[in-house]
Amino acid sequence: MSAGRRGGPPGRGGSPPAKRGSARRAARGYRDLREHLDELRRRGLLLAIDRPIDKDAELHPLVRWQYVGGVEEHERRAFLFTNVVDGLGRKYRFPVVVGAYAGNRAIYCAGMGVEAKDVEPKWACAIAGPVPPRVVTRAPCQDVVLTGAALRGAGRGLDMLPIPVSTPGFDGAPTLTATNVITKDPETGIHNHGTYRAGLKAPDRLVVRMATRIGGAGGYRHYLKHRRRGDRAMPCAIALGSPPCVAFVAPMKLPVDVDEIGVAGGVAGGPVNVVRARTVDLLVPAEAEIVIEGLIDTEYLEPEGPFGESHGHVALEEFNMPMRVTAITHRRDAIVASYLSQVTPSESSAIKRVSYEPMFLAHLRGTLGIRGVTRVTLHERMTALRRIAIVTVEKGMARTEVWRALYGVASFRADCGKICVAVNEDIDPDNSDALLWAMAFRMNPAADLQVLPCRSPGHGPEREHVPDEPEPDASVLIDATMKEELPPLALPKREYMERARKVWEELGLPRLRPQSPWFGTPEGDWLPQWDAAAKRAAEGRYLENGKASEKLRRKGLKPETRYRPAEKKRGG
Ligand SMILES: Cc1cc2nc3c(=O)[nH]c(=O)nc-3n(C[C@H](O)[C@H](O)[C@H](O)COP(=O)(O)O)c2cc1C
Repeated sequence: MSAGRRGGPPGRGGSPPAKRGSARRAARGYRDLREHLDELRRRGLLLAIDRPIDKDAELHPLVRWQYVGGVEEHERRAFLFTNVVDGLGRKYRFPVVVGAYAGNRAIYCAGMGVEAKDVEPKWACAIAGPVPPRVVTRAPCQDVVLTGAALRGAGRGLDMLPIPVSTPGFDGAPTLTATNVITKDPETGIHNHGTYRAGLKAPDRLVVRMATRIGGAGGYRHYLKHRRRGDRAMPCAIALGSPPCVAFVAPMKLPVDVDEIGVAGGVAGGPVNVVRARTVDLLVPAEAEIVIEGLIDTEYLEPEGPFGESHGHVALEEFNMPMRVTAITHRRDAIVASYLSQVTPSESSAIKRVSYEPMFLAHLRGTLGIRGVTRVTLHERMTALRRIAIVTVEKGMARTEVWRALYGVASFRADCGKICVAVNEDIDPDNSDALLWAMAFRMNPAADLQVLPCRSPGHGPEREHVPDEPEPDASVLIDATMKEELPPLALPKREYMERARKVWEELGLPRLRPQSPWFGTPEGDWLPQWDAAAKRAAEGRYLENGKASEKLRRKGLKPETRYRPAEKKRGG
């Protein structure tokens, strides 16, 4: 990979690098991060920035613009920063990449090695057929091993790494975001990989945040077990820059006690290489760029944050788990990966959405056997997937089945599906205006709305942090499907809109970005006679329609009495 220029490192030290022996390194059937970046470059999905960029003040805001600057989803790129400096003017040796895993769907699909339509079946196969990892003895992630004094002092240890500040102006520290936080169940030995943030505190100390809510972090269950056993510390390893198939399993909601690395093997179609960490008893991804090893204190907690959260507010300081770093191992020319999170859409929501939505759909169709559900959409912009779920169902589906689908989506995950709305296929679930339109015209709140009490408050500001007994939240379920055939959407048919678009362009008017819906289709309550009359009107032949309606004049009716021509078969 051509990562461009490298600045000098802010500090060096540690044990001599392990001897390189690529011939002895185990073969694999998946791409590591740098090979993935090469693939993104080939597909035009990677932007390399060679000018100096301040990781503390400029880096994340620059990438943020592609999510708040009106850039289309498919135009988003991964950003590779090859000349990283910090607020003190220090230069960093390692480049930083943001958006490399899920800057948009195309980037995620490149990482999965499939087209968008095959993402869901690939996950389904991987979960059904995990492949145990292969333990290797030599690994690129241990090219350089830093321990002891190399982890202490300015420019050493964590302070050597160009970790960006994610929400400048609000965050209290540079924070690791693109993590595979690896812990082990002290009773079963099963490993867990979770993407959890970790704020830097000192060259050899950081604070990890594992969600304690129901449906929260798997690593937290391990922490509780260690505490119950009286262990003073929990071994932990944080892998940064893992191969995409390994990075993708960490934010996935897999059942408790499923070893995610096996699922990564299922995605890869063969075993994933893991290596023993140097100072803790854990297996870590051999091809990661960097691994931070350490011991999480199970007694003391330390304030962490503020940090801009994906639920859309800044998470204020809270006591989280301090980790004393016992080693940092890395590739000689490591690349630091960081996720863009905070207000959605973001890389964080893109990476979750592609895996969460298929799980919901599989639950409704497979587990609950509800035919007629065609899609589940987790609303992304600002609401961060967890709060609003839209179930798309076929027209005419039995009302009881629509409700079963709504109950199913509301109860599938403890922290998802607070507001659940059923719509038909003519509504684009990604268009909130269309959703509001469906609710405004197709839903009677007295008959089509239910409130279910007693759900977990889930991921959000304030209420989940009330000690011991968070105030229970509730769900609202809305059936906004058509209860009868409705007339077509009141926009010109596609052919007229396309004809007019050519005229628009000939006139040199501002560039159009069509927004769904932008044309109507002759579907629903619509008769061939009305279609034929509309065609005549559009051809300038309205007088023929006037002659026909003149023959139908009647006395003694109230204005607004409906008139329906005799029904004929379509095209008849
Ligand atoms: C960018 C990003 C940051 C996240 N940060 C956290 C976090 O700090 N703590 C947490 O518990 N979950 C966080 N999550 C969500 C978890 O990764 C997710 O719940 C996942 O299922 C955890 O895996 P586990 O179930 O094996 O613990 C984050 C997800 C993403 C994509």
